[in-house]
Amino acid sequence: MGKTLVIYYSRKGMNYVNGAIRDLKKGNTEIVAEYFRDLAGADLFEVDTVNAYSTDYMTCTDEAKQELRKNERPQLKQYLSSIAAYDNIVVAGPCWWGTYPMAVFSQLEKLDFSGKKVFPVMTHEGSGLAGAPAALKKHCKGASVGQGLAIHGADAASSKSIITAYAKANLK
Ligand SMILES: Cc1cc2nc3c(=O)[nH]c(=O)nc-3n(C[C@H](O)[C@H](O)[C@H](O)COP(=O)(O)O)c2cc1C
Repeated sequence: MGKTLVIYYSRKGMNYVNGAIRDLKKGNTEIVAEYFRDLAGADLFEVDTVNAYSTDYMTCTDEAKQELRKNERPQLKQYLSSIAAYDNIVVAGPCWWGTYPMAVFSQLEKLDFSGKKVFPVMTHEGSGLAGAPAALKKHCKGASVGQGLAIHGADAASSKSIITAYAKANLK
């Protein structure tokens, strides 16, 4: 298997899980990203914004909606400058209003994806992969988009076998 990088965003704090608000000490997507590291040997790059989103669920949904409407690119604490060393790039994030948080695009648009294969991975509360594959087609110029994987947020912790099978089938 070639080298895999997971670029991910994940938010701790209050979130909606199976119809109730819960305080997540570790974000769902972070759990998934760490499984890719532990089970498939992937390296991780966490997208982290200079201005943190609110830990309050409702406030965060408003912030995210505004960013999406204005098509903003929030500033990140650090940027990855090259993915040349990797064969497979997994882009993992929560579904926010049907796509990735805008902060993920802040990072993706700085990279050269020529000849790379990218894989959309999304944790969600019912929307599945939603706009993730289309978003990668648009924001990862030059890449081909592989099979996606949608994981219900509440199932993130029990997704080890799904991730192992997905990695085996898709990451070359
Ligand atoms: C701002 C915001 C917007 C969301 N929008 C959606 C959505 O459109 N569809 C969906 O299925 N879940 C939505 N969710 C739920 C998250 O996608 C889900 O809880 C995800 O697993 C969170 O991942 P994280 O803990 O890694 O941030 C939203 C959550 C937040 C905070």
